[in-house]
Amino acid sequence: MKAMVLKWFGENGSFAAEPVPDPQPGPGEVLVRIRGIGIDRIDLKTREGGGLAQIVAHENPMILGWDLAGVVVKAGEGVTEFGAGDEVFGTVNFPGPGSTYAELAAAPADQLARKPANIPFAEAAAATQSPLTAWQALVDTGRIARGQKVLIHGGAGGVGNYAVQIAHHLGCHVIATASGEDADFVRGLGADEVIDYKTQRFEELVRDADFILDTVGGENFVRSLKALRQGGVIVLLPTDKKGEADRAAAENHVEHYFHIAMHSSGEDMRRIAQMLADGSLRVHVDRTFPFEEIPRAHEWLQNGKVRGKVAIVL
Ligand SMILES: NC(=O)c1ccc[n+]([C@@H]2O[C@H](COP(=O)([O-])OP(=O)(O)OC[C@H]3O[C@@H](n4cnc5c(N)ncnc54)[C@H](OP(=O)(O)O)[C@@H]3O)[C@@H](O)[C@H]2O)c1
Repeated sequence: MKAMVLKWFGENGSFAAEPVPDPQPGPGEVLVRIRGIGIDRIDLKTREGGGLAQIVAHENPMILGWDLAGVVVKAGEGVTEFGAGDEVFGTVNFPGPGSTYAELAAAPADQLARKPANIPFAEAAAATQSPLTAWQALVDTGRIARGQKVLIHGGAGGVGNYAVQIAHHLGCHVIATASGEDADFVRGLGADEVIDYKTQRFEELVRDADFILDTVGGENFVRSLKALRQGGVIVLLPTDKKGEADRAAAENHVEHYFHIAMHSSGEDMRRIAQMLADGSLRVHVDRTFPFEEIPRAHEWLQNGKVRGKVAIVL
């Protein structure tokens, strides 16, 4: 098969599309012919030598990527839920080696769900890691409930756009921060209020939030604590070193503070699949690229003004 091999950690030039041996599905795994790949911030951080680089560095060849949508080619020993020809999607082995920047991947069957028929492959691939993260933050961790006041930072971003939709779907009052130019987009996702993070101070406008999802980190996190009600829940996503002192401060001052790392989950993927199928969750792909242009897709996410997700079509 062909894979987009990472030759060294660093700038975009370090990728090369090369023939590599086909992966073989082990017990509990399926071999998937990949038709769509989702690109995430963690892909960029890992390519640069941060993120999950220490895990990827042990792979030979090094193949980035965790999000896929595709068609099952063959089921490994013990797999009963999927067979050849089934259309599936999911985030593979996160936070371990995923290797989805390729034509084929061996993926644990219990991390996948059936792809809804109404969603093309590239969109499905873009509806894996980001909505999983949003779901695990809001529902599994935050246990948000109808009528609660929920503040989502970065409401137009990869995770944020799904978080706004999920909180809205669950009947929360949703306040989102975003660039002014993204305000209409974020309102369209279901936000009741949008705060322009470039011109307004959200901590002066939001009081007593029941739940806050911080996709930004750093000083944004410290400011968020002022908007949280006593006993409210705050979930932080970025792991950048610059936020370490802020995280330490939060641990002393906030009762319900969680710095989460998302994990692959077939059970959560099935919930997302259901919401995609019934239209309560929509996929917003800013731009798709062909497989050979994965380096450009990285560049686009890094430098562009991306609304929603970036995806690869095979
Ligand atoms: N812990 C985990 O398991 C986990 C999982 C997924 C993601 N993450 C991390 O979470 C972060 C967000 O991921 P993502 O995929 O959503 O990234 P993304 O697609 O790049 O979206 C980020 C969004 O945040 C907005 N933004 C930037 N600065 C802001 C500010 N000061 N206030 C409010 N919004 C701001 C951006 O708007 P503009 O376009 O206007 O700049 C953009 O819409 C990344 O650091 C990622 O690595 C962690």
